[in-house]
Amino acid sequence: WSSGARKVDGVLEVAGVKVPDLVAEHGSPAYVLDEADFRARARAFRDAFADYDVYYAGKAFLSVAVARWVAEEGLCLDVCSAGELLVAERAGVPMARVGYHGNNKTAAELARAVELGVGRIIVDSFDEVDRIAALGAAQATTGAAPVRVMVRVTAGVEAHTHEYIATAHEDQKFGFSITSGDALEAVRRLQASHGVEILGLHSHIGSQIFDSSGFEVAARRVLALHARIARELELSLPEMDLGGGFGIAYTTQDDPSTPERLAREMTEIVAHECRALGIESPRLSIEPGRAIVGPSMCTVYEVGTVKEVTLDGGATRLYVSVDGGMSDNIRTALYDADYSCTMANRPSGAAARLARVVGKHCEAGDIVVKDEFLPGDVTAGDLVAVPATGAYCRSMASNYNHALRPPVVAVRDGVARVIVRRETVEDLLATDVGEA
Ligand code: LLP
Repeated sequence: WSSGARKVDGVLEVAGVKVPDLVAEHGSPAYVLDEADFRARARAFRDAFADYDVYYAGKAFLSVAVARWVAEEGLCLDVCSAGELLVAERAGVPMARVGYHGNNKTAAELARAVELGVGRIIVDSFDEVDRIAALGAAQATTGAAPVRVMVRVTAGVEAHTHEYIATAHEDQKFGFSITSGDALEAVRRLQASHGVEILGLHSHIGSQIFDSSGFEVAARRVLALHARIARELELSLPEMDLGGGFGIAYTTQDDPSTPERLAREMTEIVAHECRALGIESPRLSIEPGRAIVGPSMCTVYEVGTVKEVTLDGGATRLYVSVDGGMSDNIRTALYDADYSCTMANRPSGAAARLARVVGKHCEAGDIVVKDEFLPGDVTAGDLVAVPATGAYCRSMASNYNHALRPPVVAVRDGVARVIVRRETVEDLLATDVGEA
């Protein structure tokens, strides 16, 4: 839960706003974003990693308002598509503080990023090296600023997280392999290009990671390459990015780290490796997304139907259907993610029963919360709130079954305001041009 969430007489409040009041005004389902909590988490990373650049990973959740808050709190912004770049632009984020990721940026997207003057482009393939070289050459002939890049490398570590969100093993699409020599070759080719400035190496090992040993192995391998580049290419790279991926608590089973502890551990790991290699530490940066926005948001749903099913062995479970589901939170269906939930509109009136909160979509895997104990008298019209839905829920939301994507309502000091409005049927039908 965000720091502003509390129950008063069984009714959930966030930042002084009663959730039933918010639903009465803005409808259900709705994402509720605790602004002070978001800002505090952003500041906590910026303060703990004071000697680093902290890039908020916009893929976790991005809107114009949030991009502004990120900039106001002194963070940089990581975008990974033309759309996210557009949001940064619209929010007025200084382009020098934007990093641009992606394994398949088009020549046009790269040209736009260079034209806008983004602070760094993270290069991810030899095709992109060629595109960057062409853009750099054009910059050089006009005397414009060089194209600033980082080279994304595959550190070859097994991050202990879901396979689909682990990104540092060899057999996946991101980065240049260190072991095959591709990473060194990419730096060599960029070094030979005109109008290109190589800032450093970039590594991101995965997401929702609790164990820092993955970061340690990655840092060791990337720093070894950094030192090799200095030796063999006589190129001293000023920066290095260690990526994001810091885990958060979705249920009481999870025990996440703090920004202070992460900063201490990462700084020690890098200092130790640099001493061993006899090199100066490059300036470091990180890219947390989930750890900043994840806990700051919750999703509120209204219960529509309740059904009791009998399980093998005779026990029963309540299937509590809510007015959203995998279209606003696909993480349970996609990653088998664990969530919890609570009643938001009233105290428990009856003994707790084992329940499964499911959505309204046409498939059995449309589950929001796999197992939770809810009051046995849970009924249509009740409100259920799911915490920690800030990261990769709205940003991965879909219109499956022609669902309307819910609004994001920011709450602060007892006031609620919409920062992303609910989709309407007109939005939905706007792209369906029928038969011309
Ligand atoms: N930097 C890079 C290069 C990334 O690819 C990512 C996430 C991040 C930073 C931020 O990672 P975070 O701190 O948020 O863990 N949809 C999945 C997560 C995908 C993560 C993609 N990359 C999920 O819902 O768990």
